[in-house]
Amino acid sequence: MARTTEEYQEIIRDLVDTLVDFATRHDLTTDEYIQALGFLTEVGRADEMILLGDVMYLSIAIDELTHRGRTRGTATNVEGPFYLPDNPLLEPPYRLCSFDEPGRPLVVSGRVTDAESGEPIAGAVLDLWQASADGFYEQQKPERGPNYLRGKVPVDPDGRFMFRTIVPASYEIPKEGPVGRLLEYLGRHAFRANHVHIKVFAEGYESLTTQIFFADNEWLRSDVVGAVKDDLVVELAEETDEVRAKEFEVRSPFFTAPCDISLRKGSLA
Ligand SMILES: [Fe+2]
Repeated sequence: MARTTEEYQEIIRDLVDTLVDFATRHDLTTDEYIQALGFLTEVGRADEMILLGDVMYLSIAIDELTHRGRTRGTATNVEGPFYLPDNPLLEPPYRLCSFDEPGRPLVVSGRVTDAESGEPIAGAVLDLWQASADGFYEQQKPERGPNYLRGKVPVDPDGRFMFRTIVPASYEIPKEGPVGRLLEYLGRHAFRANHVHIKVFAEGYESLTTQIFFADNEWLRSDVVGAVKDDLVVELAEETDEVRAKEFEVRSPFFTAPCDISLRKGSLA
C-alpha cells in the first residue's frame, strides 16, 4: 500500500532525528562528519550505493521487512546487481551453459507448487542466473558470449523442472572501490556464499525472487551481504555413474541438487 506524502515526511524527520541522536551518542566532530560525507560522496561516484546497503546487511533486512508475515511459500532473497531482464527462454535439454563449461557439472531439479494446496503450478517459468566456476557473471566476462549462465526454464504440466549448469563459485564482491576499503577497515572478507539466482513467475501467483545456496560452502555463515537463509540451502550430492551422466546429458562425475519451490497466490507484480 502506497504511503502518503505526510507519512514520507515523517519518515525523513525520524531519520534526521536518528542521525542526530547517533552523532550525539558518539560525540562526533566536524572533521569526522566531513570525512563521513566524503566517503558517501565517493561511494555515490563509484556507483556503489547498492553495494554499501548490501554489505551493511540493509538490503536483506529490507527484503525481510517487505515480505514480513509470509508464513508460506519459498523464502525470498535479494535480486543483486546482475539480473538481466531479457534472459532467453531455453529449449530442452535445459542448460545454462555448454556441456563443456569448466567446473563441476550440476543438475538442479524440483517442482513448483501452490504454497497452500500443494498442487503443481503448470504454467510456472524459472528465470535463472548465476556466476561461473571462476566467479564471474556474463556482464563481467562479455567475451564468453551472450546468455552465459542465464536463461528461463519452464516447468512441465506436473510443475516439474530440471536444468543443467555448473556449481557456481563463491565470488568476491567488487573490492577495489570505497566499499571494499570499508570492508578491509572492518576486517571483513568480501565473499558471497555460492548461489544460483532464481525468479519464478506464474499467472495468478506472486512472483518470487530468491537464491539457492549449497550446504558444503565455507561462507554460508559469513556471507558478505548476510543473505543466506537456512530454508534456501540445498544439499549437493555427487554422482559418479557414467550411465546416469549420459541419462542426464552431463559430464561425469556430476552433482545433483533438489530445489522445490512453492508460490503464494497473488498478482504477478
Ligand atoms: Fe549473485
